[in-house]
Amino acid sequence: MSTLQAEDLYKVFGRRPDEAVEKLRHGADREELRAGGTTAAVIDASFTVEPGQIFVVMGLSGSGKSTLLRMLNGLLEPTAGHVRFDGQDLTALSPRDLRAVRSKKISMVFQHFALFPHRSVLENAAYGLEVQGVPRKEREQRAVEALRLAGLAGWEKSWPDELSGGMQQRVGLARALATDADLLLMDESFSALDPLIRRDMQDQLLELQKTLKKTIVFITHDLNEAMRLGDRIAVMRDGRIVQIGSAEDILVTPANDYVASFIQDVDRSRVLTAGAIMAAPGKGYDPADAPATVTEDTPVIELFTPCSKDGVAVAVTDESGKLTGVVTRERLLAVLGEPMKPTAQTSMTKTAKDAVPTPRGEGDEPVKKVSTGA
Ligand SMILES: Nc1ncnc2c1ncn2[C@@H]1O[C@H](COP(=O)(O)OP(=O)(O)OP(=O)(O)O)[C@@H](O)[C@H]1O
Ligand SMILES: [Mg+2]
Repeated sequence: MSTLQAEDLYKVFGRRPDEAVEKLRHGADREELRAGGTTAAVIDASFTVEPGQIFVVMGLSGSGKSTLLRMLNGLLEPTAGHVRFDGQDLTALSPRDLRAVRSKKISMVFQHFALFPHRSVLENAAYGLEVQGVPRKEREQRAVEALRLAGLAGWEKSWPDELSGGMQQRVGLARALATDADLLLMDESFSALDPLIRRDMQDQLLELQKTLKKTIVFITHDLNEAMRLGDRIAVMRDGRIVQIGSAEDILVTPANDYVASFIQDVDRSRVLTAGAIMAAPGKGYDPADAPATVTEDTPVIELFTPCSKDGVAVAVTDESGKLTGVVTRERLLAVLGEPMKPTAQTSMTKTAKDAVPTPRGEGDEPVKKVSTGA
């Protein structure tokens, strides 16, 4: 159980990187530096990833995602800033200690996972343990278990070329899981897969994470993937993190026009939840009159049917069944329209500040009484 922290991380490629960092600290942007022949790949990145969290880094090609990830496991030395993991400042370790941390505590899964063609699936999955010097018997046991977790039980003796691309990618995942590393770094790990298999892998990762509770940094340029996987999402643009938040934070209150344009094609009804859009119940609201009661984590798409029914607003409860808010039909339709302006109130997610009159009174709206033919 380990926390990962990035603190004011910078990576500049090219001449006089330290000078470039100073300029960036004083507000210079990428373009200005590029004119001088230096590339500011990552600019002032800070974030914390708690154990059990999936932290997604999202951004267009060239925004600095892979560079950021490579600094997290020490493959790239930051030009400035610190990476702390498990109480250790990785940036201050000797190359030897860093290698030890990297082989024991950190696993990486790439977009195209290169398997050894002359080794069996089992040997491939056990490779990380072999590097660590784990005895054969133990590493095979652990690899068998990791393959099972990755959905490849029964394939241990096969050769890589007998596996589909999706299955080979699972071997990569199994290899990462077998090492017991607390920190999993995944760079576009599912991007080369067919949509259906990709979705399957996302489900598998979410399922695994429920029990394994690793600290995961997942990179993608796919917004829907980011929204499905990320407990928190960082949006990068031109080397800078422009917003960090939950999928709902980003959808409901994008930090700026860039993020707003980025998210415009997301299927909001599947990402937003009742908890994110609910309002405070009005005076005299009685959940007993509601057409349905849902929990806060219910996706908005499941609210359409209940909201289409006559009666007062749909009741929303927390896990213990306590009423925490309501969703009216009007609110439901409104949130599926435009995202709110960046300046809009940001704390709706949990506190349901804007009290909307909820009981639908007489004449409040045209209510059609549909005859059921009885
Ligand atoms: N070793 C390097 N030397 C010089 N410039 C580099 C180096 N590595 C990356 N860059 C530059 O840093 C910037 C960020 O690159 P990075 O690979 O981190 O982007 P990315 O977000 O991962 O992109 P993609 O989605 O295409 O993988 C780019 O402008 C790239 O050209
Ligand atoms: Mg990349």
